[in-house]
Amino acid sequence: MARRKIIAGNWKMNMTPSQAVALCAELKDLVKSDSVDVVYCVPAIDIVPVVEAVKGTNVQVGAENLYIEDKGAYTGEISAPMLVDSGVKFVIIGHSERREYFKEDDAFLNKKVKKAFEAGLIPILCCGETLEQREMGVTMDWIRLQIKSDLVGITADQVKSMVIAYEPIWAIGTGKTATTEQAEEVCKGIRECIAEIYDQATADAVRIQYGGSVNAGNAAELFAQPDIDGGLVGGASLKADFGKIVNY
Ligand code: PGA
Repeated sequence: MARRKIIAGNWKMNMTPSQAVALCAELKDLVKSDSVDVVYCVPAIDIVPVVEAVKGTNVQVGAENLYIEDKGAYTGEISAPMLVDSGVKFVIIGHSERREYFKEDDAFLNKKVKKAFEAGLIPILCCGETLEQREMGVTMDWIRLQIKSDLVGITADQVKSMVIAYEPIWAIGTGKTATTEQAEEVCKGIRECIAEIYDQATADAVRIQYGGSVNAGNAAELFAQPDIDGGLVGGASLKADFGKIVNY
């Protein structure tokens, strides 16, 4: 069965609430599509206005992070039940910026993946290598380690429903996209890793995105690869170009 493509914007720490609402209005007609899933992953403070702004459209809303407890004395954090109650469907987990700047390790990310599933959220789990790792030839070893550690205790049925985003760190925000061959090679490798941990049916069902300088010019070729089921888009998700990416 063909996997449905999923194109997600990762707004990162951009867009005030009023700018967010304006962007939703600007993109509304441009991102219309019956054939792909469209998700805006937005800053926590933008969630409520964006959920309201996309009501009645094909756009679904995601968060960029969550905490591993449901409530309590965790100043500054946002819980999974809070996200669900606000209308969030997806949550990005393990983006390289969180791994790097906020020192989130795989054991912690595994707890986040579990928490997301427990609450009924769909994780978009990110993985990816540094330029040094690529040059050393350990890309796939590294990514297999990330995937295996982040998915400890996650069932095959859960994996079938989730999204994995392959984002080479050296391609994020740099304008330096991985070549189509490089992107496909790793996405295929991730699928093989899932087949090893689980089974072929699970590997065939899980959606794997590519992320890292996806734009209106390279999306079509990337998304045409057999193991690339869409993209996680940073910079280009904040402008009208996102419509071209959705309708590649
Ligand atoms: P970029 O970011 O498209 O701006 O490279 C992608 C991401 O970090 O998800």
